[in-house]
Amino acid sequence: MSSREFHIDTARMIIENNRHSLSNVAVDIFEGCVNESVEKTGKFIVAISGGSTPRDMYRMLAEEPYHSRVPWERIHFFWVDERCVSVDDPVSNYGTALKDLLDHVPIPRYQVHPMRGDLPPDEGREEYEGELRSFFNIAHDEVPVFDLVILGIGTDGHTASLFPGHDSLHATERLVCAVKGGNPDLNRLTLTIPVLNNARHVLFIVAGGEKASVVSKVFSGDGDGGDVPAGMVKPREGELIWLLDHDAASLVLRTLKKSAEMPHEAEWHEKEGR
Ligand code: 6PG
Repeated sequence: MSSREFHIDTARMIIENNRHSLSNVAVDIFEGCVNESVEKTGKFIVAISGGSTPRDMYRMLAEEPYHSRVPWERIHFFWVDERCVSVDDPVSNYGTALKDLLDHVPIPRYQVHPMRGDLPPDEGREEYEGELRSFFNIAHDEVPVFDLVILGIGTDGHTASLFPGHDSLHATERLVCAVKGGNPDLNRLTLTIPVLNNARHVLFIVAGGEKASVVSKVFSGDGDGGDVPAGMVKPREGELIWLLDHDAASLVLRTLKKSAEMPHEAEWHEKEGR
């Protein structure tokens, strides 16, 4: 199996043959970011998303060698979004992360910072905004800097719980918004674009042919106007990685090959051995 990687605009695009190697690479990237941040600052602060795609990665992290190797006592977990449900609801992002990962690794509970999906949406929003400001010790006009933000994309172009056409896409004063939408159609809490774009590393993990068309839209620039919210995620200074499986990348590859933007074949790095 091989992994292909190239740079397009400011993004690093990595394409894997299947979901298993996709999750392996996601774990490698996670571990690399942990090591980089722990070395620099002594801690690692990550915001994770829900959805089905990153679940294999979270389960892998709960197992060896990562269970023993990752410095869990240095890590703080936050969420990019949450559904307004109780933690034992099957669609709770926090509840799912507990089952897949956090219940199985030696991370101090006070380093896990879930969004309060059990509160009424506006209260949950205020609570998380306060939690972020106090944890990062930032003033009213400052935005937190996450070491890593992990995102997915929906077939409609949403990312986190930032949906096409919603006012929350243009929130500049808030770190967290309360919104309604998605599938399931629920009240939700979400980090805002300025927070996502202030991260040191942003990692999109995307799998499946049903995502091919929306991924291709992101890279054709159609996302900038808010039709494809994921396209608005362009870290100001941080690294942007799109980690795709072959099916999700199929259309973007075809489109790019036809256009002048397609990097010369020589710029592709084939990495053997995954
Ligand atoms: C959520 C997510 C959401 C998700 C995408 C992709 O809580 O639902 O944060 O933005 O990442 O909908 O979901 P899949 O990985 O299930 O395709």
